[in-house]
Amino acid sequence: MTKAPVAHGNGTAGGLIAYAGLLATSGCTGASVQSALHPAGPAAASIAWLWWFMFILGTLVFIGVMLLLVTAIMRRQESRQGPPIGTLPFVLLGGVAIPGVILFVLLILTLDTTVSLRTPDTDLTVEVVGHQWWWEVRYPALDIVDANEIHIPAGRPVRLELRSADVIHSFWVPALHGKMDLNPDHTNVFWIKADQEGVYRGQCAEFCGLQHALMAMEIVVHSSAAFDDWVEQRRRPTVELNVRQQRGKEIFLSSGCPQCHTAGDTTAEGEVGPDLTHVASRRTLGAGTLRNNRANLTGWLSNPQAIKPGNLMPPTYLSPDDLHALVDYLQSLK
Ligand code: CUA
Repeated sequence: MTKAPVAHGNGTAGGLIAYAGLLATSGCTGASVQSALHPAGPAAASIAWLWWFMFILGTLVFIGVMLLLVTAIMRRQESRQGPPIGTLPFVLLGGVAIPGVILFVLLILTLDTTVSLRTPDTDLTVEVVGHQWWWEVRYPALDIVDANEIHIPAGRPVRLELRSADVIHSFWVPALHGKMDLNPDHTNVFWIKADQEGVYRGQCAEFCGLQHALMAMEIVVHSSAAFDDWVEQRRRPTVELNVRQQRGKEIFLSSGCPQCHTAGDTTAEGEVGPDLTHVASRRTLGAGTLRNNRANLTGWLSNPQAIKPGNLMPPTYLSPDDLHALVDYLQSLK
């Protein structure tokens, strides 16, 4: 990932270049694709195909209408000297018959696309629960709980069961499928399938409060074997802690953390915030807000409100040494 260029305040041109650079490198957490026009699975491919068909057809209609408009303007000037032009057959053809055929074709193609988006049969189900402002991710059959990233194998459809713990959110990974809402009162069934390995960025697509824009996720697509390894890794018991990590664990358990977070084989069983059992293996912090590394984790723990104002995580008031011990412990949770 390249760094976004910094504007040096030397006028509009510099600002525009910096802005263009920022757009090109936006999505500060890594090289993942978030575009409906770069489909990476069958559902997104059907939607993209329909989009391109409608775009090209719409462009042709626009060009046709513009040509007729220019012709009409020219003819009107000529007809001042001659008799009026007959218009009824032209209106019937251009205003009824041709639009009727175009709309009928679009109707058929849209219905066909809708049918192709039906949830296929699959044995892999992932539950996704939307929270302000993060994603809880559960694999019921595999006994895995994660957050803000969904790991799936390539070439295999995944059934998603979507619901919300608070307000309405919307699940949208443009490279893999369209959008689906997460409602507080019932579960919506959805699915994704990725053709190839890679990382695909998703974003909450329903305004859900102050940090709606910082409610992102990543779909990490593995080969079949690598997915099995990932499952294995997530089920592995936590590693033996060294003295410093052990001290960090005690700080973790004696501070407020367990009220909101669960952490593996400890007594921490809070359910307000993300499960931390394997937090060190996650790619991002704060639902796609920061890369998950030591510096960002320390900053996030110190003052999460400065990074994502309004989220439920309070600042951590620890001495620098205790804070670093806590970070040592959290970074051991692979
Ligand atoms: Cu959740 Cu927008």
